[in-house]
Amino acid sequence: MIDVRRAEGVAEILVNHPPVNALGRGVRAGLLHAISKADADPAVKAIVIRCEGRTFFAGADISEFGQPQVAPSLADIIVALEGAGKPVVAAIHGNALGGGLELALGCHYRIATKAARLGLPEVKLGILPGAGGTQRLPRLVGVPKALEMVVFGSPIDAVEAQNLGLVDAHVEDDSQLARRAQDFAGAVAARPLPAPVSRRQVMLEDAREDPEIFARFREVHARALKSLAAPNACISAIEAAVAGPFAEGLAFERELFLRLVATEESRALRHLFFAERTAAKIDDMPLDTPVLPIRRVGIVGAGTMGIGIAMNFLTAGVPVTLVEREQKPLDHGVALIRRNYEASAKKGRFSQEQIDAAMALLTPSLDMEALADCDLLIEAVFELMNVKKDIFRRFDTIAKPGAILASNTSYLDVNEMAAVTHRPESVVGMHYFSPANVMKLLEVVRGDQTSHMVLRTVMDLAKRLGKVAVISGVCHGFIGNRMLAKRQEQAMQLVIEGALPWEVDQVLLKFGLPMGPFQMTDLAGLDVGWTRENSTGSTLKEVLCEADRRGQKNGRGFYDYDEMRNRKPSPEVVAMIEAFRARLGVTSRQIAADEIRERLLYPLVNEGALILEEGIAQRASDIDLVWINGYGWPKQTGGPMHWADAIGHETVADGLCRWRSHFGSDFRVASAFQRALV
Ligand code: 3HC
Repeated sequence: MIDVRRAEGVAEILVNHPPVNALGRGVRAGLLHAISKADADPAVKAIVIRCEGRTFFAGADISEFGQPQVAPSLADIIVALEGAGKPVVAAIHGNALGGGLELALGCHYRIATKAARLGLPEVKLGILPGAGGTQRLPRLVGVPKALEMVVFGSPIDAVEAQNLGLVDAHVEDDSQLARRAQDFAGAVAARPLPAPVSRRQVMLEDAREDPEIFARFREVHARALKSLAAPNACISAIEAAVAGPFAEGLAFERELFLRLVATEESRALRHLFFAERTAAKIDDMPLDTPVLPIRRVGIVGAGTMGIGIAMNFLTAGVPVTLVEREQKPLDHGVALIRRNYEASAKKGRFSQEQIDAAMALLTPSLDMEALADCDLLIEAVFELMNVKKDIFRRFDTIAKPGAILASNTSYLDVNEMAAVTHRPESVVGMHYFSPANVMKLLEVVRGDQTSHMVLRTVMDLAKRLGKVAVISGVCHGFIGNRMLAKRQEQAMQLVIEGALPWEVDQVLLKFGLPMGPFQMTDLAGLDVGWTRENSTGSTLKEVLCEADRRGQKNGRGFYDYDEMRNRKPSPEVVAMIEAFRARLGVTSRQIAADEIRERLLYPLVNEGALILEEGIAQRASDIDLVWINGYGWPKQTGGPMHWADAIGHETVADGLCRWRSHFGSDFRVASAFQRALV
């Protein structure tokens, strides 16, 4: 795991702990031993610390959190580095993240490859840097930049790091690093030893003269910081670096770290870290399953979904052929893509060159035959099985052998679509969430005959596109929408019993979701699947549609909207609800927020457990990812399944029993919760 090579008076400590050289207990012990030995060896004039494999240290070993600490700690290593009697050079490639960067900050010098990324992303795990990062980083890069890097956890590249003084030199590519680090160490060995970072003060002086910088930072970022514990602790720790001596700041950082690592927020975020990495694994798939090359993508349908999907590929540099039946919607789709890019450019997300490059990859066409050279064909047409089947028949005749045939359906049976082709093994669902170029979730729907190769390719592609992809089996609504349906049913039922739509929404907003069930319905449109001819006025939604309350799109849904799409409760809707209750003979009652929350969320979680039992989802953490990335479930609770574990299965089971009479005759309690009741 740790090798020491000596040449020309420089000891190179080489760490090899795949996959990412996490600083677990074995690595820490080996490192401390190697550093102490090299420091004590009079023949060694300088020390280089370098890693093998794809990266420098990616941080502490996250899987060790929550377990008793085993010595030596990372802080012990950093003390040894700062106390070394000869210069220590960190030679960085790949990533120096979290504890990895903290270790590098303990070295006298840092040299990095141009592509390396350096950062303190601990905040994303609900903690703060716990080995001096909040104290040393501002001493090198100044308080404003340290605040930005620590509070938001975004890494910077080596060139920026060098401009900031965080690294001392950079090399063009990985192959030069070992040699350059050796030469650099040899050269600095002849100079006086620089002061350790912990003793430097100059970069703190501006903030000492302007202590209000912290209050301003909190104010400017109030919305992003909300009531989250970790980012606020990061600010306090950096404030301590400025306010007092290094040792006190370090002790304060440690105290905050220990407090945060034990919070439910951090447990949830760490759960999500591993959940994201596990989701890409397909349980029954051989590891050597090949990945098909995807050089061109064909998309049928230039509606909202189709253009969002197209943008996803164009932004990633993949050429797209976009097919529509008529010129007008095709032109409209292309214009919308350009307009969306230009709107993003105004927010600084794209340059004009990037927009031009993306648009140059787009080939609009009225001819399905144009899809013949595509490696992946995606249909994004109406959600009607017959229409989808027609498209799949065409795909089957047009697509080249081995091409992947995908449906963007949100509910329908992918097996039925596969059955109309002669190549069901090539058929897969790719359920994007709207807007498809923004939302991170992709449900990859595995049909009964979808081949491993197709699944592997789509999962790999999703990673390339920056999506979080989760495998779902075939069922109505797949993972996300099937669970959502249970929540929406209860939301409507609660209104019929006595709650008002905004009261219901408010409960979920308070829980941390970005919108409530009725805001969501207004956004999607109340009239999806509704026609005046077939309307019977038997549901509240139908009653609203009949009164031309169609949602945000016409400024009137469950809420009233102004031109800026600001919503306010609608007295007209209150009257309609009251009339509807009277028609059903319901005597309305006051419904407490607790009942609303339990009736909305417990059936949703129960459906998740059923989905797991039926093998539709591979694992509970996949379901959590669906809700975090597709529906904005609050990250700090780790997703619905993790949340249910945290509040206790008995609590959920009790709630399901308490409200069972409201859940309809076909309601089934998942065995996970039946067990909790035994
Ligand atoms: N601890 C434990 N395991 C880790 C890890 C870590 N810090 N970082 C990555 N891994 C594991 C992953 O779980 C995955 O395991 P698997 O193969 O069994 O699924 C494997 O390493 C590869 O990870 P990725 O799939 O993420 O690999 P990529 O090449 O896509 O990305 C990376 C590499 C950018 C380094 C990314 O892994 C990453 O961001 N890692 C976490 C960085 C981080 O948060 N560091 C801070 C840790 S907390 C800390 O240091 C506290 C300190 O202040 C005391």
